Amino acid sequence: MLYMNPVTNPYAPGAGQQPPELAGRDREIRMFEQVVARAAQDRPVRGVMLVGLRGVGKTVLLNRFRTVALEQGWTTAKLEVRSDVSLRQQIAESMHVAMRRFAAESRAKGAVRQFLAVLKAFSLKVSPDGTWQLAIDVDAARGSADSGDLAADLTLLFAEADALVRRVGGGVGLFMDELQDASQQDLTSLAVACHEMSQTRGRILVVGAGLPHLPAVLSDAKSYTERLFEYVPVDRLSRSNTDRAVTAPAAREGVAYTGGALDLLAALTDGYPFFIQMFAKEAWDVAPKSPITEDDVRTSEGLARQELASGFFGSRYERATQAERSYLKAVAALGADRVSTAEVAGHLKKRPSSLSPVRDSLLRKGLIYSVERGTVAFTVPHFAEFLNSQQP
Ligand SMILES: Nc1ncnc2c1ncn2[C@@H]1O[C@H](COP(=O)(O)OP(=O)(O)OP(=O)(O)O)[C@@H](O)[C@H]1O
Ligand SMILES: [Mg+2]
Repeated sequence: MLYMNPVTNPYAPGAGQQPPELAGRDREIRMFEQVVARAAQDRPVRGVMLVGLRGVGKTVLLNRFRTVALEQGWTTAKLEVRSDVSLRQQIAESMHVAMRRFAAESRAKGAVRQFLAVLKAFSLKVSPDGTWQLAIDVDAARGSADSGDLAADLTLLFAEADALVRRVGGGVGLFMDELQDASQQDLTSLAVACHEMSQTRGRILVVGAGLPHLPAVLSDAKSYTERLFEYVPVDRLSRSNTDRAVTAPAAREGVAYTGGALDLLAALTDGYPFFIQMFAKEAWDVAPKSPITEDDVRTSEGLARQELASGFFGSRYERATQAERSYLKAVAALGADRVSTAEVAGHLKKRPSSLSPVRDSLLRKGLIYSVERGTVAFTVPHFAEFLNSQQP
């Protein structure tokens, strides 16, 4: 064989793509299994929020959590928050999809219809003029969950879902990706409904994922969210888990790595899951045979960097305006992990206040985040290196 078969290349670089080996998340998965088991026994639990930079594996871990819930017989709804659609609409749609599947399998048809009637009522307030409607062929249970106040309506909807699963078993998991993109008002309502649920020990579990400033965004929305949710940091993989992410999928195809190859992959990827998938994929494709060597990794390094430059980094950079690009480059030039907005202004020779609109739009686009007032950092790992390597 001249080259290793690209068809059997196991690696999966891509947003939300299930990795061939979910390395280094065993503890988090066990923790979530316990949360689900506790909720099923009506013991107090908190909603779980996965928090981390771009490409660390929040979405795939969220999906894994969803599988855990499904395996325990739970009903699960999933959505990726969009800032241009109300949370009410997104919850209504995802709950509907979840309940349709549930209804098809369940024998408690009456109870399901009762829930759908409340869900329909809940959805009526999405667009008061009736331009948007949920395609449910039941009559809305008018007067419940249709007050127009999302906090109150969501509380009722959750209570109704809780009543349903108490009759038929299991629980309901509401999985929300990119939660930092929801409006502050919607997040306040969500927090209030979760707070109510936690007091009645409802079997509704809210599980979110978002960028590092998600805890700050939530606590701005409602101060008690620090105690309401359990924040789980999703971070880079340790050296041994980086090796496992690389070698375990290859071993299943009968392919090995030399120690030098693994050293270099660890150095190039810095343990970031997206980079691990990308560099390992390219190394596999250029390797003439097993074991994959340090030299193979070095040969493919440029290809991997090109892929990252056009996708992971480039797609984000291209979405930025000229002014935003200058701002990003200033942050990168300053070098540190976290830079002060005053320094950025100094670097650009502008007044800090004049840069606020640019900074705010970069925050909204999720390219930078701010956990401490007056500072910003990139949400994209190694973004500074990428920007600094760009031609001026
Ligand atoms: N534990 C892991 N082990 C190995 N690879 C992983 C792991 N977690 C994620 N990956 C890989 O990393 C990449 C990024 O994963 P994912 O899309 O879930 O990240 P994310 O944190 O949701 O990123 P974003 O903030 O951009 O949405 C995918 O290619 C995925 O296969
Ligand atoms: Mg994601």
